[in-house]
Amino acid sequence: MPALFTHEFATDPYPAYAWLREHAPVHRTVLPSGVEAWLVTRYADAREVLADPRLSKNPAHHSEAAHGKGKVGIPGERSANLMTHLLNIDPPDHTRLRRLVSKAFTPRRVAAFEPRVRELADRLIDGFAERGHADLIHEFAFPLPIYAICDMLGVPAEDQDDFRDWAGMMIRHGGGPRGGVGRAVKRIRAYLAELIHRKRGDLGDDLISGLIRASDHGEQLTENEAAAMAFILLFAGFETTVNLIGNGTYALLEHPDQRRLFQDALAAGDTGLLRTAVEELLRYDGPVELATWRFATEPMTIGGQRVETGEPVLVVLAAADRDPSRFHDPDTLDLTRSDNPHLGYGHGIHYCLGAPLARLEGRIALAALFERLPDLRLAVEPSALRRRGGLIMRGLRDLPVEFEPVRG
Ligand code: HEM
Repeated sequence: MPALFTHEFATDPYPAYAWLREHAPVHRTVLPSGVEAWLVTRYADAREVLADPRLSKNPAHHSEAAHGKGKVGIPGERSANLMTHLLNIDPPDHTRLRRLVSKAFTPRRVAAFEPRVRELADRLIDGFAERGHADLIHEFAFPLPIYAICDMLGVPAEDQDDFRDWAGMMIRHGGGPRGGVGRAVKRIRAYLAELIHRKRGDLGDDLISGLIRASDHGEQLTENEAAAMAFILLFAGFETTVNLIGNGTYALLEHPDQRRLFQDALAAGDTGLLRTAVEELLRYDGPVELATWRFATEPMTIGGQRVETGEPVLVVLAAADRDPSRFHDPDTLDLTRSDNPHLGYGHGIHYCLGAPLARLEGRIALAALFERLPDLRLAVEPSALRRRGGLIMRGLRDLPVEFEPVRG
């Protein structure tokens, strides 16, 4: 059985996942945090688990809840009183809150955001284009989603760099000591409470105002729920998108034939290929390696394996999305892949709320990058690239690149 959670595994977990899919598709393991959990790796089982109402998202159902406090979920969310967000709750609360936020997070709002995302991407590229080299994680993939989600939420421009700092604290400490994350989460919590209070007296066209308006039309959203909602939008919407841009760029740089296809599509204005490309990059090396925590609320059988009440179940999206029983030639990156029902955004009632925004950001960011810096190349050997720690997300710590300097 291959070793899990080692350095080699973090660099390329796919061979280990192939082994698990074949030999131990529902596998009990001890996570680096010491918590025991079941890993589900086959596509069919993964889809079923993600939509099974017997699996709760509420950590109170964890059998280790009493002594495992704080070991599952987002570090710091408990102490900052931010537990009542979509990824920690079940129906009927989930249904009510999701309906509310969906009213504010409309496809129209997302589509109208496209020129702004392109403007942000261009501004960030302007910051390093003349230099001929850059770290694409720090200078591009990381700030873009932070500024985008801040804009959407209605965080004033003068406060957005504070958010960038707090988000940096959260991302740097992911998987490491939890103290820094806890501090960052507390600061974000205090800021959001203040912002929601201010907006109540001066509603605008932003998402937080939309949430307040939606809650004023009958359904209730407590101040705590509003803060938790803004927090989860920020949290779920930023590191994921950082990694889509980072992993996606890296995959294109490592596959010259696919990169050529992408650049030809850009030149020809073939938005169809740009869209299938983003889906394939999500499937091939997506930002979310494992779906978030689920807990069995009764004894059940998953893929022939008995799981007891209170046991945590983690769906390995990265393994399911390379399952040869669902995807033709799954280890090949094929930007033209059309039969691609990947699970990169999850499945069932917790399916990613921000998927339309993520797709938009991924497409615009990659297009801007390869359009403006057509000879983009890695500045180091792939073996020198460092992976970020952490259980749920899969991403690079840095991505040094070189290119012909472009004068403004
Ligand atoms: C490429 C980027 C993204 C990826 C790969 C991604 C992936 C996911 C996945 C896999 C889930 C389901 C987790 C589970 O069931 O355990 C999820 C849920 C969620 N995502 Fe995303 N996400 C992305 C971007 C975003 C953005 C930009 C936002 C918002 C601004 C967002 C907001 C959410 C929210 C609120 C949920 C919870 C939905 C619920 O529980 O009902 N995500 N995302």
